[in-house]
Amino acid sequence: MSSSKVVFVTGVSSGIGRATAVQFAKRGCQVFGSVRDARRAEAIPGVEFVEMDVRDADSVKRAVALIIGKAGRIDVLVNSAGGTLLGAVEETSVAEAQALFDTNEFGILLTS
Ligand SMILES: NC(=O)c1ccc[n+]([C@@H]2O[C@H](COP(=O)([O-])OP(=O)(O)OC[C@H]3O[C@@H](n4cnc5c(N)ncnc54)[C@H](OP(=O)(O)O)[C@@H]3O)[C@@H](O)[C@H]2O)c1
Repeated sequence: MSSSKVVFVTGVSSGIGRATAVQFAKRGCQVFGSVRDARRAEAIPGVEFVEMDVRDADSVKRAVALIIGKAGRIDVLVNSAGGTLLGAVEETSVAEAQALFDTNEFGILLTS
């Protein structure tokens, strides 16, 4: 088991999650990063990809179990996976809003 911090960053295929994972890896942490499709994600040195969709409880359980199995623990969780919905309320469907909440709000609850 590694003595360095074990960090799990969600949504490392792009954006804030990717930048965060890069910085943790540079600081010597053992970093796991979630992606929804590992075949499409560009590798990050020092970051091990774990496939996970934050809207899917079973997928989250599998990803966490995989990390615990490999590293023994998770010291730091960074919830970066998320989407954005821009537009007037009148132009937003309930389905679009629910999909955003499933990712940005309930996704955090599932991983915590
Ligand atoms: N960038 C900013 O300045 C800023 C400021 C304030 C708030 N935010 C919020 O922070 C969040 C991330 O922003 P960002 O700029 O980093 O966005 P981004 O570049 O679009 O990255 C989003 C990440 O979340 C992942 N993701 C999306 N839905 C997912 C799901 N259901 N399960 C697992 N992973 C999922 C994406 O993975 P895939 O490749 O699988 O799609 C991607 O890795 C967003 O909610 C955004 O609104 C951003």
